[in-house]
Amino acid sequence: MNPYASVHNTKQLRAILRELIYTKEALRMKQFIQHGQISTYEHCLRVALLSYLINRRLNLGADEASLVRGAFLHDFYLYDWHDPAQHPRLHGFYHPAAALANARKYFSVNKKECNIIESHMWPLTITILPRCREAFIVCLADKWCSTQETLFCRHRP
Ligand SMILES: [Fe+2]
Ligand SMILES: [Fe+2]
Repeated sequence: MNPYASVHNTKQLRAILRELIYTKEALRMKQFIQHGQISTYEHCLRVALLSYLINRRLNLGADEASLVRGAFLHDFYLYDWHDPAQHPRLHGFYHPAAALANARKYFSVNKKECNIIESHMWPLTITILPRCREAFIVCLADKWCSTQETLFCRHRP
């Protein structure tokens, strides 16, 4: 899971996310590799946990449920982005919209959760800005986790 996680934090996170993380649609993210050897499912859990911890440790007062639900669904695009036959060109630009379309299709997502998903690649998607503190937190947490996974999670023991 996440190097920053305690068992307590992980349990709290899973409790908030229990309506999402065990669904067959969300479990499909386990089929796809995100970075290194980390699946998209695991990446989304890592980003959700780091977002949760940033909010708690820095006392940012974010809406915790929206924060972690949006974080968990931020890469819910459901294809292998390494396979050019499966994904649109310029995956970095287009996958937030694909993730948002899937989130709306399979789950009930609120305004903050939608903004978290659509803006998480900002500033790459220059006109789609994080408009709430929850979206800013996930935007940062995603960049941190992605960098860490790309650099340090290439091989599993
Ligand atoms: Fe992403
Ligand atoms: Fe991500």
